[in-house]
Amino acid sequence: MRTQVAIIGSGPAGLLLSHILRRNGIDSIVLERQTRAHVLERIRAGLLEAGTVALLREVGLGARMDREGHPHDGSWIAWEGRPRFLIDTKKYTGKQMTAYGQTNITEDLFAALDAAGGKIVDEAANVQLNDLTSGQPYVTYEKQGRTIRIDCDYVAGCDGSHGVSRFAIPAAMLKTYEKSYPFGWLGIMSQTPPYPDICYCYHSRGFALASQRNPMLSRYYIQCDVDAKLEDWPDDRFWQEFKARCPQEMADSIVTGPSIEKSIAPLRSFVAEPMRYGALLLAGDAAHVVPPTGAKGLNLAVSDVFYLSRALIEFYRTGNTHYLDSYSDTALRRVWSAARMSWWLTMLLHRFADETPFEEKMRLNQFDHLLTSERAAAALAEQYVGLPY
Ligand code: APR
Ligand code: PHB
Repeated sequence: MRTQVAIIGSGPAGLLLSHILRRNGIDSIVLERQTRAHVLERIRAGLLEAGTVALLREVGLGARMDREGHPHDGSWIAWEGRPRFLIDTKKYTGKQMTAYGQTNITEDLFAALDAAGGKIVDEAANVQLNDLTSGQPYVTYEKQGRTIRIDCDYVAGCDGSHGVSRFAIPAAMLKTYEKSYPFGWLGIMSQTPPYPDICYCYHSRGFALASQRNPMLSRYYIQCDVDAKLEDWPDDRFWQEFKARCPQEMADSIVTGPSIEKSIAPLRSFVAEPMRYGALLLAGDAAHVVPPTGAKGLNLAVSDVFYLSRALIEFYRTGNTHYLDSYSDTALRRVWSAARMSWWLTMLLHRFADETPFEEKMRLNQFDHLLTSERAAAALAEQYVGLPY
């Protein structure tokens, strides 16, 4: 087979790239290791930056998002013993965030690609990237006992943090930066009316977050030990702990119900540089992972795809590789800013077991600084809503 761009991974990054390329007359084939049902079952983040919303609208994916997504003027921080603080994106940036689940975006993308004859191969096993610096790259995969080869001009590595693409870059050429945090997030989804606000809670018992997917679907998280076990967290215990970590009036208004999904995710920051090696271009979680605090993961995947699709469109229209050559640097600038914001919010809002009283005072003072300084509040709002592309 032959295509212009072979895309590895059918998460939001791979699907969105394929969709935008197709709209611009560029052929691609998406290779996904899992079944489509598996991809659609995964529960991931759900808070979109204004730039993500604008881009999705621009490429014809706005209809359902505009109907079902819930815009917010900002998100709250409820700090134990302090007044509530609004990360006021509307006031300081004129922009809103939109609650709309990654699962929905993935569904919308599959629907758009199916309708337009997009090529997505699922259950593609043993994907391998070959001859990336030869000018004649190709990928191979196995399906139903056969090995299939796809010749292409470029390979887009959109296969997430556990993918193969990144490992096709020789170790000597790749620099990775990593930080893991000594806790995870225990998250549940419940078919209950959500708490009206997106609210991050800081409490001496640990962090908690109230979020939402739609008027009858709520998403809640609590900070948990890295080695916590799901079986130790029946719903009752989760709700009790969640409520203990938020202000009384908030706890009183939370509508609880049985969880329909429950999972534990460790928190880590990871960035790989560069995001290009020969014909291989990385995008999304394949190149970087941020802790979920601040909801930047999905939004970064979208901004990577913005830069990458622009570069490929420019190349196929004019033969000019200017944007391709600068892709890694351009994307990484935005990646590092989001990495810093996610790290900062993570450090601010969680309890650390080995923390000294001095560090605790510093944390408290950082929050008080937000409460008392318009400039500090504006700086956070500007990063939280997402830096311009
Ligand atoms: N071959 C083919 N496909 C693969 C391989 C492989 N070797 N390894 C992984 N994949 C697939 C995964 O099954 C997954 O469907 O690549 C896809 C990667 O999707 P995501 O992990 O969703 O990554 P990305 O598209 O970059 O989305 C960004 O934002 O909310 C955050 O981390 C969250 O998934 C989210 C991300
Ligand atoms: C979510 O809704 O899943 C969510 C919202 C905000 C975050 C992280 C996750 O910071």
